[in-house]
Formats: sequence, C-alpha cells, structure tokens
Amino acid sequence: MQEQLESVRKSFLTDLESFPDNSTGLQDLKTKYLGRKGQVASLFTHLGKVDNADRPKFGQLLNLLKNELQSLYDKKELSISAKDASSNRPYIDITLPGRSPSNGSIHILEQTLLEIKEIFKSIGFNIAYGPEVDDDYHNFTALNVPEHHPSRDMQDTFFIDPQTVLRSHTSNVQIHLMETSDPPLRFIVPGRVYRNEAIGYKSYCLFHQVEGIYINQNVTFSQLKGCIEYFVKKMFGPKKKMRFRPSFFPFTEPSAEVDMWDDEKNQWMEILGCGMVDPAVISNVGYDPGKWKGFAFGMGVERIAMLKHKINDIRLFYNGDVRFSEQFS
Ligand code: PHE
Repeated sequence: MQEQLESVRKSFLTDLESFPDNSTGLQDLKTKYLGRKGQVASLFTHLGKVDNADRPKFGQLLNLLKNELQSLYDKKELSISAKDASSNRPYIDITLPGRSPSNGSIHILEQTLLEIKEIFKSIGFNIAYGPEVDDDYHNFTALNVPEHHPSRDMQDTFFIDPQTVLRSHTSNVQIHLMETSDPPLRFIVPGRVYRNEAIGYKSYCLFHQVEGIYINQNVTFSQLKGCIEYFVKKMFGPKKKMRFRPSFFPFTEPSAEVDMWDDEKNQWMEILGCGMVDPAVISNVGYDPGKWKGFAFGMGVERIAMLKHKINDIRLFYNGDVRFSEQFS
C-alpha cells in the first residue's frame, strides 16, 4: 500500500511538472488523479483490503496525499491563469513614435481681423458691433439710399420680409452708433455681411467688413486719405501699390474706392469704399450738419487677407478644408 501511494504521488508530480504553462486541459489531470474515478479514489477502494490494524495509518496517509495533490494542483492552476491574463493584454510597442495631437489655430480671417483691429486701435478708434439682421431703415433709408436705388434690388439683398434684411454692409452700424451717442465719435465695426451676388473668386454671398466712422467738427478728406494710407502701409508694408479712385456711395460725398495691386493676378483689386459722410446722413441721425462732419469707410476683410496671403479664391475661406487653414497656423 505504501508503495502504491508513493507511486501515485510521483506520477502526479511528473505529470504536473511537465504540464505546459500556456496550455489548456489541466482539468484532465485533476480527473486522472483527484476525480471520482481517479487514482486517489481507487487507493481509497484499496483501503478495504488492508489489514484492520494498518487501516487507520493508511487512511491518514491517504488523506494527507489527497490534500497535498489538491493543493499542488490549485497552485498550478493559479499560476497558469495569471500567465494567461498577462499574455492576453493587447500588445503595446513602446518603441513606436507617438502621435502628437494636432493643435488648432486661429482661422486666417480672424487673424486678419485681429490685425486690422490692432492697427485702428493704435490710432484711437474704438470697436463696436451691430445687428446682422436689421431693418430696411438702418441698412438703407437712413444712409440716404433712395427707395428705388438699385442696391435695394432683390438681386443684391437678402430680405427676411419687406422691412427686414440681412445687412448688405456694416454701414447700418454707423446709424446705430450715431443714434445712440453724441459726437464726436470714432469707431470701427467688424462684422459679417450678406449679398445675393453671383459667386466667383472674389465674391461670396457672405463676407466680412470692417466699417470705420469718424465724426468731429473739422474733419477733412485729407484726414481720411491719411488714415487709410496709414492703415494700408501698416497692413501690407510701405512698398505695396495702392490707389484712390473716385467713386459714388449715396451716404458719402465725395466718395472714393481704394484698390490694391494684386501681384498674383496682375490687376487691381478693390478693398474698400470710403468718403465724407453725406450731410443728409448727419441730419438723419439728429446731428447738426452745419457743425459736424465726418468720414467713413468700409473694407472687405477677405480681400485684404487674399492680397496679403496670396489666397486666390474667396471660397477657400468657407469650405472648411483643413489643408487650407493649416497653412496659416
Ligand atoms: N458700405 C459700402 C460698401 O459696402 C462701403 C462704404 C462704407 C463706403 C462707408 C463709404 C463709406 O460697399
């Protein structure tokens, strides 16, 4: 009996040790030795054939053996499952270079706007904003645009209803500002404007303007010229070619437009309209036209950005392609 015990034990140890760590089927080993019909159980059956006197001693030895094998088995099972868990983890190659998160940046239009604001702030302009949806009166009538002026035409202006428009320029804010504050005043007004125009490389149904308005007692056209020239030189450098060209706006008299030379397209590109505020506008807001004069201008932000950064199509600002925006980060 003693020898049988010893041989079961040895064979169990050999089986257990040679059992590969990474393999399944350890359960079979349990069945073979510790199962209901396993080798240990059959030793218990043998116990019946042992002399009465020896039975307690072998019974005890057999129980010890059973416990020993069980605990060795448990240990093995534990170590296999631990290795299993670690080998099932996803494989991480720590030598791979990391993927750095891409940084966002300020859109080129906003960057241009920030620059424009800085330049005008440095010469004493305040910044104001006004409504994008406005009444016909502020967008047109108060600006001396007669009822049947072509710029009111459905082709140019988006009407919300017959009295309400998406503003077609930022000049509506000239009126709001003068209505709510006393002269003198000096503001720039950045904002979005909308026009129902044919879309092309330099015209889009939506764009940005910066309006300027300066009201004081002795404002002259040469001050207007000086102001615009100062701005252009700061924005584009002293060498960039520009020109003033006589023009017409119902709300300024005299009026002018400013063109910049487009080196890419080899032609002039208009960037702003300006002029001396028409006395009719001055009196529309309740100022005394005998006492107060002023100049005003309105510039296209997209066109300024296009000239400055050699962007050849206004639609690039609006199609949301990051390959475009990334070039200016
Ligand atoms: N509002 C004019 C435009 O949109 C520009 C302008 C503003 C002209 C102020 C004169 C004075 O074209």
